[in-house]
Amino acid sequence: MKLFLDSAKIDEITYAIEKWGIEGVTSNPKHIRKSGKSMEYFMNEVKKVVESTDITVSIEINPHLNQAEAMAEEAKKIASICKNFVVKIPATEEGLYALKLLNGSDVKVNVTLVFNSFQALQAARMGAYYISPFVGWREERGENNINFISDIVSAVHNYDFKSEVLVAAVRNAKQINEAINAKADILTAGFDVYKNAFQTPYTKMGLDIFSEAWDSIER
Ligand code: E4P
Repeated sequence: MKLFLDSAKIDEITYAIEKWGIEGVTSNPKHIRKSGKSMEYFMNEVKKVVESTDITVSIEINPHLNQAEAMAEEAKKIASICKNFVVKIPATEEGLYALKLLNGSDVKVNVTLVFNSFQALQAARMGAYYISPFVGWREERGENNINFISDIVSAVHNYDFKSEVLVAAVRNAKQINEAINAKADILTAGFDVYKNAFQTPYTKMGLDIFSEAWDSIER
């Protein structure tokens, strides 16, 4: 399973590549706004970080676009900036048609805002590179994600499509565990989500116990 970082902050991205070996970055307009920089700044700076690697960076098209032709056009522009860029297109009827229009081009697409198996299946049929179900948004609204993720993984992999399922909007270690258990191909989470997931009270407790024992060993 690959781990991606969900962020548009260059310092977080370089830290996560160096320390955690992350294999990809995902971004969206919320992350760009949170970084306090422009879309152009983000694309230029992240390109410098990843262009000599295989790390992919998912970048969202303008969410106001609702015609497949315009979506495909914008996707081509974004993809032409850097070979590592994967373009995020929403799982609407027009968005999924845009994938069909992009067939035969070099543009890689991350189908985003996936909330059911049909959207995932159609994304796979249209040649999606990544398919992103959003687990956090569902759980925040009282839904259970265990079957949700495994149903989408089955919808894609039972039929041998090449698309990878990228579990997104992951908010905590429990959701990380669920994505692992459901055999998702990739998960993406924010910087603080990973930082918190490293910390469990049991690891801390164990270190305290071992340190105390260590100090009382005769040397
Ligand atoms: C992933 O590709 C998305 O950018 C992300 O996970 C969306 O979730 P958010 O609510 O954390 O922005």
